[in-house]
Amino acid sequence: MKTIYLIGFMGSGKSTIGLALAKRLTKTYVDTDQLIVETKKQEIAEIFQIDGESVFRDYEIKALKDGSTYDVVSTGGGIIEKSENIQTMQKNGLIIYLHASFKEISNRLERDQTRPLWNNNIEDKLNLYNRRIQLYKKYADRIIETDGKLVSEIVQEIEEYIINE
Ligand code: S3P
Repeated sequence: MKTIYLIGFMGSGKSTIGLALAKRLTKTYVDTDQLIVETKKQEIAEIFQIDGESVFRDYEIKALKDGSTYDVVSTGGGIIEKSENIQTMQKNGLIIYLHASFKEISNRLERDQTRPLWNNNIEDKLNLYNRRIQLYKKYADRIIETDGKLVSEIVQEIEEYIINE
């Protein structure tokens, strides 16, 4: 089986859907953020604060490469910022973009304090969202709309797609 990479903005459900998909398919699963936290023994916010975003992006490139031995990979929202990551994903598998509206994401992350790039003013968050969604769409093999859908419905849609690939 090709590796299934889930991409999308923060709060689009990549981790929840990735885990549920891997369980449903009885396949292996990894989350690149989780892999970074485990190997570096530091929380993401701490890495951003102490070492800066560019160090985090380097860790992320390595985590994605290491994670590509798994069947289902949930990625961080900024994975598409580096062309090396696009190459890794295109070489090893299928890229599935979980699209959620800015409104839905804002609701989901209303009280979230753990994501450095969400801890920002509304204008910056909206600009980041608008810029990123162009990239997710550009590199996705498949776009899945997630607003108002159950986890099980999204998992089923992905399953139907990969069966035919
Ligand atoms: C980031 C998203 C986060 C995490 C880091 C940076 C981003 O992951 O990798 O805070 O640049 O969008 P999630 O998409 O899982 O929130």
